[in-house]
Amino acid sequence: MEPILIVHGGAGDIKDSRVPDKIKGVKIAAKAGYKILKNGGTALDAVETAVRILEDDESMNAGRGSVLNLDGEVEMDASIMDGSTLAAGAVTIVRDIAHPISLARLVMERTPHVLLAGPGANKFAEEQGIPRLLPGSLITPFAKEALKEFKKKGGSLTEIGGKDNPGDVGTVGAVALDSQGHLAAATSTGGINGKMVGRSSDTSLIGSGTYADDEIGGVSTTGHGDSIIKVCMAYAILKNIENGSDPQKATQSVLDKMSAKLNNTAGAITISKTGEIGVGFSSKRMSWAYQKADTIYFGIEQEEVQSEKVIDE
Ligand code: GLY
Ligand code: GLY
Repeated sequence: MEPILIVHGGAGDIKDSRVPDKIKGVKIAAKAGYKILKNGGTALDAVETAVRILEDDESMNAGRGSVLNLDGEVEMDASIMDGSTLAAGAVTIVRDIAHPISLARLVMERTPHVLLAGPGANKFAEEQGIPRLLPGSLITPFAKEALKEFKKKGGSLTEIGGKDNPGDVGTVGAVALDSQGHLAAATSTGGINGKMVGRSSDTSLIGSGTYADDEIGGVSTTGHGDSIIKVCMAYAILKNIENGSDPQKATQSVLDKMSAKLNNTAGAITISKTGEIGVGFSSKRMSWAYQKADTIYFGIEQEEVQSEKVIDE
């Protein structure tokens, strides 16, 4: 089976100044994840690696670079799913670790549970030997500035996301199909700028932020999480595929329905079990990239598809 890996760097009203870094970041992550697949690695390892790279990238809202809650802190969510077994793991409201996606994978592999939250998730991280960073080490100047701007705009501070705060919604994710025909999906986020302390997102919820099933496909979503949850977006896209829709239509139709009904925007990346791609967003922009054979495809604007040959170093 020809392997394929796609990543996204978050949907939203991304500022022009952030566009080059967002494109650069998704290309690096897509190539690194694809390399694992090309060398015979698993979809699970490939999506985890790609998301770890995006978590380290300060221009992405995940890991370092996460947006802040109303108290100026980073609280992160992540989830991962193995399409061959439907095994899944997730964490929510986790603090001061570099790679929430790897913690989600440990929840999947080393606990009887799917989702660990808050102090319990951090306790498990410590037990697993994951270093706890000094408080505040994931906070970037951009995130501080974004929270300041959000608070300056006034209005209800509990009014998260939506039109007053469109630029600071974002998440990272990856979906892969490996040479054995197995699918995996992974998603990680700092959530929404100015969110309430303790707010949990779609990214921690299997079926909303992440889903993978070898018999259908895999999906990772991004955008206004409180809306994504209401339509169980990742699972809804796969249900469309199961009912005969192609991945592109399956993806776009759930996004369009959500935006029409709930007046908020989102994006998603999809791979079907046969390796067909879906990329959709109802937001102004979403950075995405995928590699198939020796070509990388990428974009950030609506209808934009660029491609380049990948020269192996
Ligand atoms: N459905 C309740 C529980 O999982 O504990
Ligand atoms: N989709 C990410 C969030 O709403 O937090």
